[in-house]
Amino acid sequence: MNIIIFGPPGAGKGTQSNFLKEDLKMTQISTGDLLRNELKKESELSKQIRNIIESGKLVSDKIIYDLIEDKISNKNIENMMIFDGFPRNIEQAKNLEIMLKKHNQHLSKVLNLKVDYSVLIKRISGRVSCPVCKNTFNEYFDPPPQKCRENKLIKRSDDNEGTVKKRLEIYDKETLPLLEYYKNQNKVLNIDAMKQIDEVRKEIRGVLKG
Ligand code: AP5
Repeated sequence: MNIIIFGPPGAGKGTQSNFLKEDLKMTQISTGDLLRNELKKESELSKQIRNIIESGKLVSDKIIYDLIEDKISNKNIENMMIFDGFPRNIEQAKNLEIMLKKHNQHLSKVLNLKVDYSVLIKRISGRVSCPVCKNTFNEYFDPPPQKCRENKLIKRSDDNEGTVKKRLEIYDKETLPLLEYYKNQNKVLNIDAMKQIDEVRKEIRGVLKG
C-alpha cells in the first residue's frame, strides 16, 4: 500500500506519518524533510532552495522529482510508502503516477487531514523538535519531556507567522485543488484531525484497516 498524507501546514502530516511508520511499518517520504536535509549541506542545491523555503513558496518540481524518484525506485520500500508533503500541485500528482507506474506500483489512498485553519498558527508556532531523539513536539499541545528540554530544542526557520501565511496561501491556491483530483479517483479518506494526536492516530489506523 502506498498512501499520501494530505493537509495544510501544521495539520499533523509529519506527526501521523511517524505513527504509521510504527503501526504499519511503512516508510515516510517527506519532501520537506528531504529539502531540510539538503539545507544542512553546503551544496549548490541548498543555495537554490533556502530562500524559497523561507519565503513559504514551492521549490521547483524538477528539484522535487530528483529527490523523490530515488526513493520510489528503492525496492526495499516498495508498496510501503507514505508521501508527506508531496504531491503539492496537479503537475506533481501526475508525475507521481508516472513514477509509480514506471516502478510497477500504484497509489492506494489519500488520507485527508481535516482541520480548521484557526488552529494552524498555534500548532506551527508551538512546534519544536529534539536534536537528540529527533521527535517533534508542541509547546501547547504535546510538550517535550524534561530529558528533551535539556537539549536545545529546534524551531524551523519557516515557522514564523509571515511565512506561515504565505504557506497557507500557496496551499489554498496550488495544493487544495488536488483533493478534487483524488476525489474523482475515489481515493480520499477523510480524517478528523482536530482531535487529540492519539485520537487521530486511532482514526487513521481504523480507516486503513477498513
Ligand atoms: P513541509 O515540511 O512539507 O511543511 P508543510 O506541508 O507546510 O507541513 P508542516 O511540516 O508544517 O506540517 P505537518 O502537517 O507535517 O504538521 P506536524 O505533524 O509537524 O514543507 C516545507 C517547505 O518545503 C514548503 O513550504 C516548500 O517550500 C517546500 N516543499 C516541501 N515539499 C514540497 C513539494 N512537494 N514541492 C515544492 N516545495 C516543497 O504538526 C505540527 C505541530 O502540531 C507539531 O508541533 C505537532 O506536535 C502538533 N500537532 C500535530 N497534530 C496535532 C493534533 N491533532 N492536535 C494538536 N497538535 C498537533
